[in-house]
Amino acid sequence: MSRPLRLGVNIDHVATVRNARGGTHPDPVRAALLAIEAGADGITAHLREDRRHIRDEDIERLMASIDKPLNFEMAATEEMAAIALRHRPHAACLVPERREERTTEGGLDVVGNQDYLGPYVARLKEAGIRVSLFIGADKAQLDAAVAVGAPVVELHTGAYADAETPAAREAELSRLIAAAAYAAEIGLECHAGHGLSFDNVAPIAAIPTIVELNIGHFLIGEAIFSGLEPVLTEMRSRMDAARAVAGTPAA
Ligand code: PXP
Repeated sequence: MSRPLRLGVNIDHVATVRNARGGTHPDPVRAALLAIEAGADGITAHLREDRRHIRDEDIERLMASIDKPLNFEMAATEEMAAIALRHRPHAACLVPERREERTTEGGLDVVGNQDYLGPYVARLKEAGIRVSLFIGADKAQLDAAVAVGAPVVELHTGAYADAETPAAREAELSRLIAAAAYAAEIGLECHAGHGLSFDNVAPIAAIPTIVELNIGHFLIGEAIFSGLEPVLTEMRSRMDAARAVAGTPAA
């Protein structure tokens, strides 16, 4: 049985363009408000340690301006914990920023960092933040997510999106389907994202236990040609169509 499917819009690359000139235009908060008007169910922003796109004041302004959930992407560092605990966003997605935190699929190595992540996840949860872990489609990482107390995982779709042959793509899709099913079985809420576009979103949207997709780079890039609203409308309709085939209309 399928569940409703949410669309989270990642606005990082609006900030990338802004920062190229060092001023205030284009404003990622304006993009977030427009995305919400166009049907986004939430906004995702990654405050990187090097602040290469989103900045501290963007998070402050997003918290004050948007009326949909903010998914705050962050490395599992002390600096980011302090910022998350100060703002208390709806959700925090822990992502790897350094090589040693990362698995071969590019997800967070939860298995290898359980002792550190357990108390870290607990601190965020105690503050009422819904914690998700950005991981590869790997059973051991899913089991470790449960072990550290995370209620949510986001499956990394990068290997699927970047696959160079149809066979490789099919193989990655099969791994994602199996991982999403296993996540539901062990009680994890399952999200997915990275590298999703008009061309590759449907098979992911059709996976019945995935309840949220987080999409950024393609949407912001395509908006240069068509505008953010038509691009979001088109993405939503492709998600809905794939979900309808899977059994339940999108949220
Ligand atoms: N989900 C997570 C956890 C991410 O870190 C990102 C950004 O890399 C995305 C989703 C969105 O990926 P993209 O910008 O490729 O759509």
